[in-house]
Order: sequence, then C-alpha cells, then structure tokens
Amino acid sequence: MLKKISLTVNGKPYSGEVESRTLLAHFLRDGLRLTGTHTGCVVGRCGACTVLWNGTPVKSCMVFAVQAAGDDIVTVEGLAQDKRLHPLQEAFWKNDAVECGYCTPGMLMSAYGLLNKKNKPTEKDIKRAISGNLCRCTGYGNIVAAIKEAAANMK
Ligand code: FES
Ligand code: FES
Repeated sequence: MLKKISLTVNGKPYSGEVESRTLLAHFLRDGLRLTGTHTGCVVGRCGACTVLWNGTPVKSCMVFAVQAAGDDIVTVEGLAQDKRLHPLQEAFWKNDAVECGYCTPGMLMSAYGLLNKKNKPTEKDIKRAISGNLCRCTGYGNIVAAIKEAAANMK
C-alpha cells in the first residue's frame, strides 16, 4: 500500500509516496538515489546502512521509510559542505581508516552522531559508538585514531 510521506533528508525537504513496507535504507538508495548509504546484512548486524535520524545514529535497514515521516535524516552525502570534506572524512582519509570502503559511510555516520553529542569523546566512547559497525578490512585501530583526530580538529 502506498503512503504519502514528507521528511527532510540532508537539509532538503522531500514529499512523495512510498510503499509502507519499504525500508528506509532502500528508500534512500532507490527512491532518492543516495547510494552512499550501503546495505550489507539488511538484518541490523553490520551497520553499513547507518544514518542519523533526528540526530541519532540508526541502522536504516531496521526501520520503514514511513516511520521517518516528518523527521530529519542525514546520510553520508550530507557530511561534505560546499565541496569540502567534513573533518571526519578528512581524518579517515589521512589515517588510512578506509580500505574497501564498504563500512565507511556507516562508520562515519556513527562517529558523526557521537561527535555531535560529545566533543571530547574518550577512546571508550568512540569504541562504543562504532560497536554496531563491522569492518572486515582495517582492524579498527585506524578508524578509532581517525575519529580521535577529527574530534580534536573540530573543537
Ligand atoms: S545493512 Fe543494515 S545493519 Fe547491515
Ligand atoms: S574498509 Fe572494508 S569493510 Fe571496512
């Protein structure tokens, strides 16, 4: 069944119709062509699909698009501004925190959610924030270092 929804994605208003069973992850990728949000497991385990929902990181494969009606969504495409990488993206790049890149959008959004709430996160905070995001390549050390560096640069 089609339902009307209005929501804000990366600061832009969107209104349209969506199947009530469409996952937010699929709506973002297929409906809005925001393919930076990756899908991996689609059962809430890998975190590749993480976006911010009203400022809080959520796995977008675990919610229906209609549940986000009236709300504010930020995807990885919303991080860079005026063609300038966000400090988190810069830090991931400089710290070799990206290998295949499949987990990266989800890692960035979990880290972004953390830094929006805590500008001086401890290593434990960082590890907890990305604990729902799996990476098969990096071993996590460089990712934690990158988030620490971004936090310092954003002060
Ligand atoms: S695709 Fe959503 S958690 Fe894996
Ligand atoms: S960089 Fe490959 S899964 Fe994380």
